[in-house]
Amino acid sequence: MAIPEEIIQELKYRNDIETTISQYVNLKRRGKNLVGLCPFHSEKTPSFTVYPESASFYCFGCGAGGDVFTFTGLMENLDYIESVKLLAERSGVSLPEDGYNDSMQRLKNTVYEINRESAKFFHSYLMSEGGKWAREYLLSRGLALSTIKKFGLGAAPDSWDALINHLKEKGFSLNDMLTANVVGKSQRGSYYDRFRKRVMFPIINIRGNVVAFSGRAMPGDDKAGGKYVNTSDTPVYKKSENLFGINYAKNHCQENVILVEGNMDVISLHQAGFCNAVAPLGTAFTMEQVNLLARYTKEIILMLDADAAGQKAAKRASELLQNTGLDVRVVVIPDGKDPDEYIKKNGTERFKALLEGAVSDMEYKLLMASKDIELNSDEGKLKYLAKAAEIIASSDDVMTRDIYIGRLCDKYGVSRAALTAKVDELRKRTNSYRKKQEIADIIRPKFTRDDINPERRISQKATAAEESLLAVLLQHPDFYNEAKNSLPSDKMITSLNRRIYEILISALDSGKSLDISVFAEKLIPAEIGYLVSLQNSERAGKNAKAVLTDCIAVILEEGSLLNSSKNADASVEDWASNLQNIINKKAKGNSQNG
Ligand code: CTP
Ligand code: MN
Repeated sequence: MAIPEEIIQELKYRNDIETTISQYVNLKRRGKNLVGLCPFHSEKTPSFTVYPESASFYCFGCGAGGDVFTFTGLMENLDYIESVKLLAERSGVSLPEDGYNDSMQRLKNTVYEINRESAKFFHSYLMSEGGKWAREYLLSRGLALSTIKKFGLGAAPDSWDALINHLKEKGFSLNDMLTANVVGKSQRGSYYDRFRKRVMFPIINIRGNVVAFSGRAMPGDDKAGGKYVNTSDTPVYKKSENLFGINYAKNHCQENVILVEGNMDVISLHQAGFCNAVAPLGTAFTMEQVNLLARYTKEIILMLDADAAGQKAAKRASELLQNTGLDVRVVVIPDGKDPDEYIKKNGTERFKALLEGAVSDMEYKLLMASKDIELNSDEGKLKYLAKAAEIIASSDDVMTRDIYIGRLCDKYGVSRAALTAKVDELRKRTNSYRKKQEIADIIRPKFTRDDINPERRISQKATAAEESLLAVLLQHPDFYNEAKNSLPSDKMITSLNRRIYEILISALDSGKSLDISVFAEKLIPAEIGYLVSLQNSERAGKNAKAVLTDCIAVILEEGSLLNSSKNADASVEDWASNLQNIINKKAKGNSQNG
């Protein structure tokens, strides 16, 4: 996406950072900067700093940072481009049409338009005389008309070309319809509507664009061929990265989200006032979806059907979520119902009670593990405790482990020391907890005090040098040629700094200035914060040029050291022969010196 730099700059003048942030935060002057209480985490002493000079902000408490667009985006739950659009609207600046010269962006926009037009078509058909069958079906399932409207539900007529004809009339090409995947192409080369005689659920992304559809067959329609037909991946849609209901839930899930299985469950829950429900789109829950949720919430309540498939999905989801920093609780819905049926039959209050009774993920797993075991015999108890120890060992949190060890000991009358020893032994034996820690590092929900650059542990020294190097370049872009010539980007050791370095070099290569907007789309908000903290840091010092040269030397040297130790890992034989080489070299060096 390329909003011209001049427009970004104009918007920054019109939406001066001090004034914009002051609308949300009470700022006090401190030297040339301003400070206030951070709106992104709770604090009693101000660590939120606004730098009018560089038109940026940074919170030393939580690491949030960026420019006026980043700030607005965080306050309003928008991404960078959306914030640019919002501030443009607020200041009466008109942006050039979406897309400009970028042909991929043009294609995306066309697909968005086709989707929007199709959604309108399906919705008006649902509301028309012809769509009565679908309307009656939805009403019979307890949906209010207002809910149908809110979710933009629709119906596809029983026709092979109704949508095609409608979209043609609106000026879209068959090829673009195919790309949007609302239309299919037969082997003989004829085009047809993919959704026929189905109730249509538009899938809407966080920015409110219709990105796909899910079409449900009418019950008892044997010729329909599949209960659901879904949009496959298109230029604007990857089902593994989207969640049904996220467009509404994102504003109601500061505390938690409810993850359910189906679209109908989401809609029912929203109708009953639980506006924090979302569902994966007919796929297993994915890491991308976890990432998306992690931007908005602290806790996920898994609410899955009591059937075998639901339990399997719960297991997979809870594995994905383990040690991600998100809290997880599980609700098992009684009587083999799904949430939609449950809430309709038992009402909102009972449903609330169900939610309140949600057990922690750990409790749930311990419960499930006991299911097929005869707990009355000593043998059974031991078998269960062995399983339970494994489950407890999978948690990285020492307090959590301690709590559950305590509970089991009380319940089964074993010694605490013995169970603790068993759990510790398991933890030592399995390496998996370490892998999970790596995943947790990648996810990084919201802003945490933790280090945004998890690879720092590879080399503290190199990372510090990288940071100073970036600080110098951000403050003195004119030194970039020197950096570029002596430090190719693949020599950067940590991937975050490498990415920042690459963005920086390529921006300067194409003659852009190092505005935060250059980085905004390629970095997540917490990383932008990191960047801003470097930009405003004192690291560059008085002699920036010398700092730069030193940093480059350190990075290169640490890099080659790391490389040689990496080789040592390769295999024992390699390691031995490497060692032999080093010894030989040393011996040679010594004899030469001495
Ligand atoms: N799904 C799908 N394709 C199928 C079956 C299911 O994509 N053939 C996805 C849909 O996203 C659906 C979810 O899996 O919403 C859950 O499936 P299911 O429980 O069968 O459907 P419900 O949403 O509960 O639909 P309903 O209550 O109308 O039966
Ligand atoms: Mn259902």
